[in-house]
Amino acid sequence: MSALFKSEPYFRPMHEDDLDVVAAIDYAAYPFPWTHGNFRDSIESGYSCWVYQHDEFIVGYAVMLLAVQEAHLLNITVAPDWQGQGKGRAFMQHLLAVAHDYRAEAMFLEVRPTNTAARRLYHSLGFDYIAVRKGYYPSQYGREDAVIMRKELNHA
Ligand SMILES: CC(C)(COP(=O)(O)OP(=O)(O)OC[C@H]1O[C@@H](n2cnc3c(N)ncnc32)[C@H](O)[C@@H]1OP(=O)(O)O)[C@@H](O)C(=O)NCCC(=O)NCCS
Repeated sequence: MSALFKSEPYFRPMHEDDLDVVAAIDYAAYPFPWTHGNFRDSIESGYSCWVYQHDEFIVGYAVMLLAVQEAHLLNITVAPDWQGQGKGRAFMQHLLAVAHDYRAEAMFLEVRPTNTAARRLYHSLGFDYIAVRKGYYPSQYGREDAVIMRKELNHA
């Protein structure tokens, strides 16, 4: 472990106090970021909202909707300075475990076809392509499709 860090990173529920930092990371990570209000609404709606904490740093966060035995991943972000170090994979494994504990039968998510890093991550975790939502995302060229991916969660 690096001597720079006092403890192992861990996952904890997102709180209102986190939202200035979370919204700032989202602004840095996406051309079309969520607002502070989008995150606040997610917490107030009871969505499964998580922060990845590494000492004093929030290095990532995620928002997932758990309903009617399904998990819908709405946002997962690793802060740009922390990407490419295994944190996205660890976060996905945490979210899959949360969804499994909720007894969700499957997790769904949407991803831009151009988002190679995210698509590779999801595919390596067993997500399959199930559909395309035409013109789902805003993009600098107008609209961009979303690829919908699904992973079944086993409860054997
Ligand atoms: C997508 C994201 C969450 C991945 O998190 P990360 O911490 O950078 O990813 P990890 O280091 O855990 O890598 C996991 C896998 O992702 C893929 N990946 C990560 N970075 C990649 C890159 N630059 N190019 C290609 N594949 C990449 C690889 O399959 C990698 O597995 P490997 O290391 O065994 O090859 C992160 O890049 C991110 O937050 N991006 C901006 C926001 C975003 O696009 N979120 C997803 C919206 S659907």
